[in-house]
Amino acid sequence: MKKIAVVMGTRPEAIKLAPVVRELARSRGARTLIVAAAQHRAMLDDALKVFGLRPDSDLNLMRRGQTPNDVLGRAVARTAVFLRRNRPDMLVVQGDTTAAAGAALAAFNEKIPVAHVEAGLRTLDLGNPFPEEGNRVLMDHLSSLCFAPTAGARMNLLREGIGRRKIVLTGNTAIDAVRWGRSLIRGRRAMLPQRLRSIGLTKRLVLVTLHRRESFGRPIGEIARGLKKALDAHRDALAFYPVHPNPEVRRAARRYFAHPRIILGPPLPYLSFLELMRRSYAILSDSGGIQEEAPVFHKPVLIAREMTERPEIVSARGGVLVGRDGRAVAAALNRILDDRAFYERMASCKNPFGDGRAARRIADAIVRYLNG
Ligand code: UD1
Ligand code: UDP
Repeated sequence: MKKIAVVMGTRPEAIKLAPVVRELARSRGARTLIVAAAQHRAMLDDALKVFGLRPDSDLNLMRRGQTPNDVLGRAVARTAVFLRRNRPDMLVVQGDTTAAAGAALAAFNEKIPVAHVEAGLRTLDLGNPFPEEGNRVLMDHLSSLCFAPTAGARMNLLREGIGRRKIVLTGNTAIDAVRWGRSLIRGRRAMLPQRLRSIGLTKRLVLVTLHRRESFGRPIGEIARGLKKALDAHRDALAFYPVHPNPEVRRAARRYFAHPRIILGPPLPYLSFLELMRRSYAILSDSGGIQEEAPVFHKPVLIAREMTERPEIVSARGGVLVGRDGRAVAAALNRILDDRAFYERMASCKNPFGDGRAARRIADAIVRYLNG
């Protein structure tokens, strides 16, 4: 029986790897070990619970005020101990977090093959997003299998000299997760946060999430200025921002986002967040995963960043890169709220991130690899 360790450090990794674990469990001849690296604690545990995932091992990495180097050091050391004790045949990591990069490095040094889910995403600027761009380059080059979600991601890997035979084009498992999540939502009530339920969704809802390190300080203040300006011009619009628990982000949310029509709240459980995306009018975000999910719900997404490693959403005209300048953010939001034809064009974009069967392709490729 082959042993496959699947490492999940943060909320988005658990969400995007849950479908892979489900498909691996359906494959004969393979046993999956779930490793909760726990670079995030509460948010990871919430996401694991949604999909009924129970970790076999917990590296318990999170500390308040942690730096990427703190996380990296603990991730390498603790993954190495796990690997020596369990000797899996393969280690699966996802995305570009520091916990994932540390786990991949530890496996590489133990000569355990690494499989990277969501390989090949690039902005080609090591400062944007920081430090994620560096993490994913490292992970792709250490991996024996690279699961590219799009043809563009596959091309990025080939350009860097990664062997054709290592790359599998799969689609993004974020889409598999949304489908699974939507099937879990059916029949449940009270999915929305209390404050929104009491105000009612009579206004046009702009769903906001911002958490990137390169936006800390002035840029996040500028994004807030743009949002407030657009809200001032549209009394029928309301923003809801579930704030990421990073203390730096919480401070910025309190400092910059005070406005009678901006509701701040704690992070939402994944299913509530999906339900809110469905009910929203538009999304303003610097998240990676949300750029992939928004088109599933036919919602325009304004990307509050200088560049995106998911250019497919911009080419498909479902997303606009608005940057982090207050005037530009306000102009983009105003257009979304005023120009119906523009809005409809964005909302009707075809999802470029896959067909919801990425996890099956990934599980098949892993089993094929392990069987030689
Ligand atoms: C990390 C990833 C980022 C990813 C994001 C997903 C890196 C460098 N960054 O950023 O790529 O987009 O996760 O959300 O890997 N905290 C809690 N409870 C939690 C989670 C976080 O209290 O459940 C607080 C802690 O104080 C922690 C801080 O948030 O120290 C920062 O967490 P960290 O994982 O270092 O960075 P993120 O900004 O979450
Ligand atoms: N998400 C959630 N609750 C929230 C905000 C986001 O469950 O309050 C989900 C969202 O649907 C997506 C993922 O978290 O699947 C994105 O995580 P995040 O933006 O923190 O990280 P990134 O994708 O930028 O790495």
